[in-house]
Amino acid sequence: MSMTARRLLRGACALTMAAWAGFVCATPSPMPPVFDAALLPPVTAGMEGNPYRHHPDRAVIVQVGRSVYNQSCAVCHGADANRLGPAPALRIVGRFCQRIADVSLRSRCQGDADHYFYKSVMEGKVKLGVTHMPAWREALTPEALWAVRTFLEAPAPADARP
Ligand code: HEC
Repeated sequence: MSMTARRLLRGACALTMAAWAGFVCATPSPMPPVFDAALLPPVTAGMEGNPYRHHPDRAVIVQVGRSVYNQSCAVCHGADANRLGPAPALRIVGRFCQRIADVSLRSRCQGDADHYFYKSVMEGKVKLGVTHMPAWREALTPEALWAVRTFLEAPAPADARP
């Protein structure tokens, strides 16, 4: 574990002790998830928007995203994003954009939400010196991150854990 990772974990635990009675202290700091990276089409752009949203291999990407999500995010945000975790629900990030009829406005709205998602995850959430969420940039590739976002945008899986 790197020094930075240790510091981030300590931050997360400090918050947790106060707010969630030790829940996250037992969780590991950001570790690269185990998945077959070859299953994800390479991404050239960084945070310009989810490149997999309309991808022909979306079904596979959603499966990989689900696996990455459950390894890296579920402990705080809930298994299969079921809203039962102590951290905010993630399926709603940018969901309202889908209701915008104007195509170009909708696409700008989704772009903003994607940018917010990318930045939140890669840089983590630190407020007033307290780490609410550690940064994931050392552990996640942009491909893995966008696969998670694609999973979160898909309907909840039928066999999702309650
Ligand atoms: C250690 C617990 C923890 C883990 C693990 C974690 N998060 Fe978070 N996350 C949080 C907390 C707490 C917040 C709320 C931070 C705040 O108050 O702004 C948050 C916020 C977010 C937000 C912003 C949500 C919003 O509505 O503003 C996104 C996006 C996010 N997390 C994605 C992820 C993803 C993707 C993963 C897995 C790669 C992940 N998180 C792993 C604790 C965690």
